[in-house]
Amino acid sequence: MTKPLPHVVVTRAIPEAGLALLRERATVWVNPEDRPLTRDELLAQAKDADGVIGLLTDRIDAGFFDACPKLRGYANYAVGYDNIDVPEATRRGLPVSNTPDVLTQATAELAFALILATARHIVASDAVLRSGQWSGWGPLQFIGTQLAGKTLGIYGPGRIGLAVARLSRGFDMKIITCGGRKPNPALVAEFGAASLPFEAFLAAADVVSITAPLTDTTRHAFNAAAFARMKPTALLVNTGRGPIIDEAALVVALREGRIAGAGLDVYEFEPRLAEGLAALPNVVITPHIGSATTEAREGMAVLAAQNLIAMLEGTTPPTCLNP
Ligand code: DGY
Repeated sequence: MTKPLPHVVVTRAIPEAGLALLRERATVWVNPEDRPLTRDELLAQAKDADGVIGLLTDRIDAGFFDACPKLRGYANYAVGYDNIDVPEATRRGLPVSNTPDVLTQATAELAFALILATARHIVASDAVLRSGQWSGWGPLQFIGTQLAGKTLGIYGPGRIGLAVARLSRGFDMKIITCGGRKPNPALVAEFGAASLPFEAFLAAADVVSITAPLTDTTRHAFNAAAFARMKPTALLVNTGRGPIIDEAALVVALREGRIAGAGLDVYEFEPRLAEGLAALPNVVITPHIGSATTEAREGMAVLAAQNLIAMLEGTTPPTCLNP
């Protein structure tokens, strides 16, 4: 008798390239709705699953593992994995994985788009034209900031931080970094980037690009005290995780001109925005689309599928998170 195929649950539709790989080796259930599963739906669907591919919006913790007695592994469709209790998975001998590298360039490109959009008021000036309110060229309209000669601070100098620095090459910016367990050797070798303590970093940067993961150290690192140390001309861009910024404090800092502008792709309480944020003229906001390119999303789907297949076959997944 042939062994039944393993059963895989995918908590939200992902590109077909990944699903096709899974279907060759498993029965696959894909959430048919264009929304995340509720907690109850997730636990109900996953209870008979041998493997699950989930999103950053799915909480993968002891309660989830308890509800899935047959589970042989969990693959995150994201590089960030603050939604997974990795130590708990490890304690239970369950492999878990993420999708690094395949989305590095896409996310760095969005960070740079936000830097440019914020520095040059692209969104606010577009809106004036669309609303029919432009009265013609004016010498003082939408005066922005030139990037050349300025200091770009990379907060979270990992793969994506390095890619942001590389994109800045044509803009002739000085690079400084902060965070990370140790200085990124490529950032040092290619840019001579100094790794600074947080307070010195804040004081020196003209543009801060957050590309850090969410950890106990980075949560609310950018709070009222941090904004007070930044230049009043500084721009803050976040493509990491929303809770790294105290969003209520950011609204105050932007409103009172303690910093000049912000470009945000991630939010503290997604999909909700802090009160007053969307009404500010000096902020550019995008809906968590850092990895939203065809190339990155297909790469993520294939890598998540490869990870889960390895787990089901009892081999080490390509990008395993367990130590
Ligand atoms: C990630 O991968 O962590 C992003 O936030 C979504 O692609």
